[in-house]
Amino acid sequence: MGRFIKSNGMHRTLEGWPLVFTVLTTLAILVGGLVEFLPLVLVNSAVDRIETVEPWTPLELEGRDIYIAEGCNTCHSQMVRPFRHEIERYARNGGGYSKAGETVYERPFLWGSKRTGPDLAREGLLRPQALWHVRHMEDPRSTSKGSIMPPYPHLLEKDIDFDGLTAKLRTLKQLGTPYSEETVKNAASIAREQAQTIAKEVEEQGGPTGLENKKIMALVAYLQSLGTDVADPEDDVANAESASDDADVTADASR
Ligand code: HEC
Repeated sequence: MGRFIKSNGMHRTLEGWPLVFTVLTTLAILVGGLVEFLPLVLVNSAVDRIETVEPWTPLELEGRDIYIAEGCNTCHSQMVRPFRHEIERYARNGGGYSKAGETVYERPFLWGSKRTGPDLAREGLLRPQALWHVRHMEDPRSTSKGSIMPPYPHLLEKDIDFDGLTAKLRTLKQLGTPYSEETVKNAASIAREQAQTIAKEVEEQGGPTGLENKKIMALVAYLQSLGTDVADPEDDVANAESASDDADVTADASR
């Protein structure tokens, strides 16, 4: 140290003036911080955008909030990593591994790393059927033998707060999510319409009736949408192959 900081050098002198030294250190940190931070804010292309990725519909957004409120994200991740075994398990019906551009409208993101249950990033492609989700949420063990997932029967009883949706969309719009003014204003009726469609789907599949205002409809809309923005089965093969080049995978039996 003595070689760099002379006992009577400039640095020692500065250190002897606590106030001046504090001000200069703060300045240095501020300038350094801005240099690192500003490009991320100013350059819009810092994230590779994906054209097909759209903001949540009002009902899906409500479902996402229920998902967070119920703590689903404490057991389920939403990020398929670029490894062949992950793609074959979680993205077997398309979508490939997760990309940054998919989560541009996520506030907060729900990538997670804890997987007590399976990853759900591609759930809409794996299980598009509404009734399956209704039954599974009401009693997971009725669809998945021996499941340790807790039941959520109250979601079939409690009503969706449709009137609160405009405020939620407006907030997101202010933060930059490209919702049109019309969507923001009519959020409640757009959501009601989508909920009715799903309720009808459940009925047609032989499920319970009268669910059109229930929270379960929002959650199902959300689960059904997961991964569908990037569904491209052809892409998937390419993804799996390029991923297996990067990843440390065991010998591929098909080669
Ligand atoms: C205690 C951990 C835990 C919590 C909390 C939890 N899950 Fe699960 N989840 C699991 C497990 C384990 C499975 C696998 C067995 C099964 O299908 O039930 C699963 C399976 C699923 C599946 C089926 C995935 C597939 O394609 O096989 C969905 C969808 C799902 N959970 C959604 C949810 C939602 C929505 C919530 C919140 C309302 C939730 N989970 C809360 C543990 C959990």
